[in-house]
Amino acid sequence: MTLSPPHMMQAIEITAPGGPEVLKPAEVTVPVPGHGQILIRVAYAGVNRPDALQRAGLYAPPPTASPLPGLEASGHVAAVGPGVTRWQLGDAVTALLPGGGYAEYALTHEDHALPIPEGVTLREAACLPETCFTVWSNISLRGGLQAGERFLVHGGSSGIGTTAIQLARAMGARVFATAGSPEKCAACVALGAERAINYRDEDFVAILRAAGGADVILDMVGGSYLPRNVKALADDGRLVQIAFLQGAKVEMNFAEVMTRRLTITGSTLRPQSDFAKARYARHLRKHVWPLVATGALRPVIDSEFALADAAEAHRRIETSDHIGKIVLKVS
Ligand SMILES: NC(=O)c1ccc[n+]([C@@H]2O[C@H](COP(=O)([O-])OP(=O)(O)OC[C@H]3O[C@@H](n4cnc5c(N)ncnc54)[C@H](OP(=O)(O)O)[C@@H]3O)[C@@H](O)[C@H]2O)c1
Repeated sequence: MTLSPPHMMQAIEITAPGGPEVLKPAEVTVPVPGHGQILIRVAYAGVNRPDALQRAGLYAPPPTASPLPGLEASGHVAAVGPGVTRWQLGDAVTALLPGGGYAEYALTHEDHALPIPEGVTLREAACLPETCFTVWSNISLRGGLQAGERFLVHGGSSGIGTTAIQLARAMGARVFATAGSPEKCAACVALGAERAINYRDEDFVAILRAAGGADVILDMVGGSYLPRNVKALADDGRLVQIAFLQGAKVEMNFAEVMTRRLTITGSTLRPQSDFAKARYARHLRKHVWPLVATGALRPVIDSEFALADAAEAHRRIETSDHIGKIVLKVS
C-alpha cells in the first residue's frame, strides 16, 4: 500500500568522516519499507550529538541501518510494508529511527513510531523520540528512579539534560543538574531543577553530599567524573552512564561500590533490538506522552535549520552554546 512516494529524494550525506563540511545535500533513492516497516514523509528531523559523532567517524551505524544521519523525525506515513497493522497512510507520527532522518523520506519499524502528543506541533514532536527513549529507559527502567529520590543529571542544558530534568521532576524526584554557564544553569532551574550547579565554579560532589547524596545520576561526561559521581551517590545509589564525553578510561577505587551497595550501569540505545525499542515505545506512550500532553514535559528548542543547512546545525551543536534541541525543517 502506498501514496506513491517518488523514486528519488533530497537527503544529507556524510561524504567522508570529518567536520561539519562533509555533510552535503544529495539526491538519493527513496527507501522501500520491508516487513513491519513504515516510510515517513519527514516534516522535521531532530539533531543529536550522536549524529555529530557518526559524521566524525566515531559512531558507526548498525549494519542494517541507513548510512544517512538522523535518529528521529516527525511527519506522515507515506507507505507501509507487509505486515504493518498499527499505522495507515497519512497518519501523523514521530519516530525513533535507526538512521536516515536527514532526508525527505525515512524508514522505521512500525513499533518505534508514536502518535503526535495532543497539543504538540510536528516541529516539537521531532525533538522527542531520541531523548525520551534514552532518558526514560535509563532513569526509570535501568536506574529505578522513584518519587522523592534525589536525581542528578550532568549536561543539564543538553537535549538529553532538558528532557531528563522535566521527566524526573514529573516523576516526583528532587532534581539537581550541572551545566557550564549561569545562563544554562538558569534554564535548568526554569525547567524544574531545585539546584543547578555551574561546574566551572562549584563542586557538585560537595553540594550533593550536603543534600544527602544522589540516588540516581545520569552522566554523559565520564572521565574524571566517574570517581566523583561515586562520591556524590547516596548509599544504594545508581550511576547510569550514557556517554563518555571526557573519556571512558579512568583509574579509581571501587571499594565504595561494595561497601555502600552502589550500582554502576549504562546503555546505548541505537544497537538495541527492535523488540527492546518497541518495549520502550510502549512505556513512553503510557507514562511519558500524557506528561507531554499536559505540558509537564515539552521539548526545549534552541534553533531550527533547513535540511540543506545541516552542516550549520552541526556547527551549532558542537559549540555547546545551545540550550535544548536543534531541529531541521525538511518539508
Ligand atoms: N547512550 C545513549 O543511548 C545516548 C543517546 C543519546 C545521546 N547520548 C549522549 O548524550 C549526550 C548528550 O546528547 P545531546 O544530543 O543531548 O547533546 P548536546 O545537546 O550536544 O549536549 C552535550 C552537552 O554536554 C556538555 N558537555 C560536558 N562535557 C563536555 C565535553 N567534554 N564536550 C562537549 N560537551 C560537553 C555540554 O554542556 P556544558 O556547556 O554545560 O558543558 C553540552 O551542551 C551526548 O554525549 C550523546 O552522545 C547517548
